[in-house]
Amino acid sequence: MLLQAASSIAVAAWRPPRKTGLRGCRAQPRRLQPSGMEAAAGRQVERVASLADEAATEALARRIAGAARAGDVIALAGDLGVGKTRFARAFVDALTGEREEVPSPTFTLVQTYDSPAGPIWHFDLYRLKQADEAHELGIEEALTDGISLIEWPDRATSLLPEQRLDLHLSFAASPNARTARLVGRGSWAERLAKLLPDG
Ligand SMILES: Nc1ncnc2c1ncn2[C@@H]1O[C@H](COP(=O)(O)OP(=O)(O)OP(=O)(O)O)[C@@H](O)[C@H]1O
Ligand SMILES: [Mg+2]
Repeated sequence: MLLQAASSIAVAAWRPPRKTGLRGCRAQPRRLQPSGMEAAAGRQVERVASLADEAATEALARRIAGAARAGDVIALAGDLGVGKTRFARAFVDALTGEREEVPSPTFTLVQTYDSPAGPIWHFDLYRLKQADEAHELGIEEALTDGISLIEWPDRATSLLPEQRLDLHLSFAASPNARTARLVGRGSWAERLAKLLPDG
């Protein structure tokens, strides 16, 4: 089930754009050190996944949900309408085991769900005027005991732990295609390397 849409997720290690060389020439995937060594060295692991369609975004969400545990923070960045809530919906469904009503927390700013892996807190911080307002939403409790999915994390970067999974979605060439750039730090470095093997 998990791998059903895997063929539409193409994964590569991320490298910063070359300062010189041919414009538009794709860098060759680089083989990283084994995942255990990456984590031991305190490195971050970076991946780029090409998502062909919405099903691929959902498959990625389910795959990440399978590795999530209480205390995790997953920061969901990207432009308006790119698919952050779609990702969150599939993530919540995967952990609760049912088709939940997962409304976008655009106005409520946060929605919570119970799951066997722990409570899931789904934040949308777009309307936050300043980071401090996130305290009123219960963000401390979420960061300590919950699994936090945070849309528009840049609104409260100062409150987020460094050890987290960053997922940045962007629009790609065709209308339903997206590019996901993932950065895992702390325990997420090793988990990400296992979830999305390089290449
Ligand atoms: N590959 C894809 N992944 C995710 N969503 C997709 C994809 N292709 C098309 N879509 C569509 O894009 C829209 C994404 O809406 P969504 O509410 O998830 O965006 P968002 O990033 O949460 O926006 P906002 O910043 O307003 O909260 C949906 O209508 C969805 O059906
Ligand atoms: Mg949204």
